[in-house]
Amino acid sequence: MTAVRIAISGARPSPAASPDVDVSEMPTEGPLVDRFGRVHDDLRLSVTDRCNLRCVYCMPAVGMTFLPRAQILSFEEITRVARIARALGVRSVRLTGGEPLVRRGIRDLVERIAALGFDDVALTTNAMLLAPMAQGLASAGLRRVNISCDSLRPERFSTIRRRGKFDVVLDAMEAAEDAGLAPIKVNVVLLRGQNDDEILDFAAFARDTGRVVRFIEYMPLDADGTWDRARLVPGKEVVERVNAVWPLEAVQRDDDPAPADRYRFADGKGEIGVISTVTEPFCGTCNRLRLTADGAIRNCLFSDAEHPVRDVLRGGGSDDDLALLLRRAVWGKLPGHGINEPGFLRPRRSMSMIGG
Ligand code: 5AD
Ligand code: SF4
Repeated sequence: MTAVRIAISGARPSPAASPDVDVSEMPTEGPLVDRFGRVHDDLRLSVTDRCNLRCVYCMPAVGMTFLPRAQILSFEEITRVARIARALGVRSVRLTGGEPLVRRGIRDLVERIAALGFDDVALTTNAMLLAPMAQGLASAGLRRVNISCDSLRPERFSTIRRRGKFDVVLDAMEAAEDAGLAPIKVNVVLLRGQNDDEILDFAAFARDTGRVVRFIEYMPLDADGTWDRARLVPGKEVVERVNAVWPLEAVQRDDDPAPADRYRFADGKGEIGVISTVTEPFCGTCNRLRLTADGAIRNCLFSDAEHPVRDVLRGGGSDDDLALLLRRAVWGKLPGHGINEPGFLRPRRSMSMIGG
């Protein structure tokens, strides 16, 4: 059989890009699988690139530019992609951004997505707008929330996130739990010299509240390109520091492809996780694909290869065309993100533009 080559827009020479992929061996039925046998059953839907905060590890204080409205997918378009992904074996969906709750009518989208019959519908949020919406989102079919919170000290919280108040997040956590969106996961991006002195405070918080605190390594995905490896706090160090005070036991992962390494407190009081994307890449078990707010499928946070699903959606493409695009996007995925390799180029689009 002759090799069929597909061009992928946006490709450039980078270890994480896949400019030209041979699809002659690509299956045309069954689950979404890549060339390394990884089955993709987790879809991240970014619903907006906008945000009401300006976290230091994500956006500049001023001057962030956002996508024009016309480029953003409508709820109908997002739901159509999700429906096709569901038919291709995707089991879980997470709504992200930017900040997903700033998108008007988000409850309606949750309802539409939940109606497609996924095993899990979750949302990652900074929680600024969550408290009054939690009940409605839960009744629309949302199952879980991950809440970003990088400090337990109000003043520092506002320094890291530049806008927004700690108390609002705490209230939102309670509101989410009252609405049944439990257990909550709390995402903490650790920055050396800025909040790494709070590792034990966060561990105590996890023990006291039953919320699952997940320490995330700082990744080269900030919009202003100031990422510095020296500011990253390795997950291993977090586990050692917590374990020295409250002994931890690794939670058996079996086939769980989730990126967090999970640890429970040996005395039974709760759980923490570490997401060591940079120091201990988990690419070998990655099962994720992403839809950006402007309708590109990305197979990796760190790859610039984008598959323009919006063109197919708006160009009168059929469901089969969309399914083929999803298959190709997954098939083209590279084995790893290459952050630790000499030729690594950071992706052109940052976290809030891709969807976390
Ligand atoms: N490194 C690590 N995590 C990040 N997030 C945003 N930018 C970065 C970065 N540069 C996280 C947020 C949120 C999730 C969507 O992504 O804290 O928890
Ligand atoms: Fe907004 Fe999330 Fe980026 Fe913070 S990390 S600026 S909350 S998108």
